[in-house]
Amino acid sequence: MESKITFVKGDITLQDTDAIVNAANSSLLGGGGVDGAIHRAAGPKLDEECRKIGGCPTGQAVITTGGNLKAKYVIHTVGPVWHGGTLNEPDLLASCYINSLKLADENGIKTIAFPSISTGAYGYPVEQAAHIAVKTVSDYLKNNIAIEEVRFVLFSDRDYQVYVKAYKELK
Ligand code: APR
Repeated sequence: MESKITFVKGDITLQDTDAIVNAANSSLLGGGGVDGAIHRAAGPKLDEECRKIGGCPTGQAVITTGGNLKAKYVIHTVGPVWHGGTLNEPDLLASCYINSLKLADENGIKTIAFPSISTGAYGYPVEQAAHIAVKTVSDYLKNNIAIEEVRFVLFSDRDYQVYVKAYKELK
């Protein structure tokens, strides 16, 4: 198992990775949760770049600069809203991680931080989301030598524990 995946409890806006990932909505115009925090910390340049891009479908990802953040880039991805698991939510959530990592690769990003996509306002059960997140990233990194670190940044103790457990269960 690769040693590129790390877990921290904290605020993603403070991470020093090359890129941080935003759990956005398809308008890209900002919102609450991690999206609101990232837009506030990055400043108006982020809003402007997102407005120019114009939107992003669920499961896809787009990239902007990081504005005032330490991170040089923000990758915005739109997680699925949880409807009980029958509307392709697992595949859409996996696509968020894959498409974000592809964009990272295309932009020479070596270190990237992810929040727990979809498990806040979008209601995805965190245990299920964590399993998909760590499995998808772990599988992606098996065929990738360019990305040096994928850091999961969890906002609560409980989420941190759930993600670490999901990762241990992969091995
Ligand atoms: N750093 C890291 N994680 C954070 C931060 C932060 N600063 N702020 C919140 N979180 C965590 C939440 O605790 C949750 O575990 O991010 C996780 C994802 O929650 P949401 O931000 O609600 O994201 P999501 O469930 O994907 O819903 C997206 O919420 O704000 C809107 O515009 C956003 O409409 C979109 C929806």
